[in-house]
Amino acid sequence: MGLLYSVDMSIEGDSISTQPLESLDEWEDDLLERYPTEEHVFRDYQAEVRPTVKEFYRLNHTYQTHEFVKAKKAEYCSLNKRTMSVWEAMEFLNTLVDDSDPDTDATQIEHLMQTSEAIRADGHPRWFILTGLLHDLGKVLCLFGEPQWAVVGDTFPTACKYSDKIVFSEFFKDNPDSQVTEYQTPHGIYEPGIGFDNVDLSFGHDEYLYHVVKDYMPQEALYMIRYHSFYPWHREGEYDHLASDTDREMLKWVKEFNKYDLYSKVDERPNVEKLRPYYEDLIGEFFPAQIRW
Ligand SMILES: [Fe+2]
Ligand SMILES: [Fe+2]
Repeated sequence: MGLLYSVDMSIEGDSISTQPLESLDEWEDDLLERYPTEEHVFRDYQAEVRPTVKEFYRLNHTYQTHEFVKAKKAEYCSLNKRTMSVWEAMEFLNTLVDDSDPDTDATQIEHLMQTSEAIRADGHPRWFILTGLLHDLGKVLCLFGEPQWAVVGDTFPTACKYSDKIVFSEFFKDNPDSQVTEYQTPHGIYEPGIGFDNVDLSFGHDEYLYHVVKDYMPQEALYMIRYHSFYPWHREGEYDHLASDTDREMLKWVKEFNKYDLYSKVDERPNVEKLRPYYEDLIGEFFPAQIRW
């Protein structure tokens, strides 16, 4: 493992230093190892984690400062990049070319449809099915030139103390915010119970897509989208001291969504063209023809 890593480092020094993951799915595959179901055999997570994933977390934890988050929100959340329909955004995301194997790995659209089809099969309401279809469209940030560590990864609050339940929390020692005394108290710059909508979580596809769809989807859907990568909260139970009563009320929806996001990946690949008319109708129920990105 160590040898393989050093070979990668020397052959593709640049790509390993800024874009260590072979594909964005590598992060999600790793989540599945970290949060296995009963059907998955338990393995020693820290011992078996891939070097690429570890390097990804090192970059994410080092560079996601509070200042970085505020700058990226200012840059992206005013939605001035382009105008696209939801379906166009799905096709745009599918152009994301990485090193994953197209014969064996699901495409981005397939992952979205695996998630939405699993939700649909369980008889959930139409807004919930649509949430499954939408939830990762914020990954178009990669196509706008953002590095992997600013698009995916478990999200965490900035400008307050890092929980040691955050995966590879040891890497925060190299984040400049760890030297800011005000940021290293449990509440940091925030009031107790301030609510996560007033907390600057690390930037990524969750926060970005929330802003894209916030005028069109119900509150439960917006929570699922905005916090689906906030594993320190929804899986580890951390940061409740910053949560509002609304956050606590919505937590059950985030948890309900998580099982479809993480565990539908192992199922068979959906027939995208056959399902397209159903989903075009569903999109049309909630969204205008074009929206701002
Ligand atoms: Fe996601
Ligand atoms: Fe996902």
